[in-house]
Amino acid sequence: MRPKVIAGNWKLNKDVGESEKLITELKAALKFPLEKTRVIICPPFTSLALARKLIEGTVIELGAQNMYIEDEGAFTGEISPKMLRSVGCTYVIVGHSERRQFFKETNELVNKKAKKALVSGLLPIICVGETLEEREKNITDQIVSVQVKSCLKDLSSSDMEKVIIAYEPVWAIGTGKNATPQQAQEVHQLIRKLVGQLYSWVVAEKVFIQYGGSVKPDNALELLKQPDIDGALVGGACLKADSFTSIIEAAVRSSQN
Ligand code: 13P
Repeated sequence: MRPKVIAGNWKLNKDVGESEKLITELKAALKFPLEKTRVIICPPFTSLALARKLIEGTVIELGAQNMYIEDEGAFTGEISPKMLRSVGCTYVIVGHSERRQFFKETNELVNKKAKKALVSGLLPIICVGETLEEREKNITDQIVSVQVKSCLKDLSSSDMEKVIIAYEPVWAIGTGKNATPQQAQEVHQLIRKLVGQLYSWVVAEKVFIQYGGSVKPDNALELLKQPDIDGALVGGACLKADSFTSIIEAAVRSSQN
């Protein structure tokens, strides 16, 4: 059985002092055995160095929220995968819908970022998901399939062992309106089948597919109990140690049943 992977995407929240407080509280709260559950935090770039120090010796792993596709050069304001590695990141989120919406990132760029992350030794969390308009037009499957195919282009089977796909329906992000466990499971199953067609069933059985979009302590367990939901990418609820901890506890419980 695949372990559950719970990642907290802090987005544009928490300065250095606030980050220290949140991580300290999280460490204190996570004193239970995390069987079959992995925990990742993705603070803003400015808190990564501090986060690395604070999580040392704990099970918490570190991720970044974005990266550029070059190691160095005249790209003002960008951060390279090499820099992320040097500050202790293991993971990087690529193609989050907020990057697609506000910074015009395309599937093609997301694919380049995923490939660059992999050759740089980072594990990409590749985000896909339909908008409300697309869901209402009944084209969710088409949209998500195109995103998955384009974002995984040229990735090998062994790359796929390092990739996490995050299904985040745009209409569920930050709205308090999560996809129902059934709605999420349907799309997760579709993504797994697609990975099976693109690679093999062995690869599809191994790939991690997280759900993101208004995951909260009160809906996490039902979502995480779905057979193709391997974890959660949490936004708002990861900004408080108690709610993030409850979601992690739900992940532990979901693997026990
Ligand atoms: P919310 O949990 O705030 O809906 O955000 C989800 C998300 O975008 C995680 O990447």
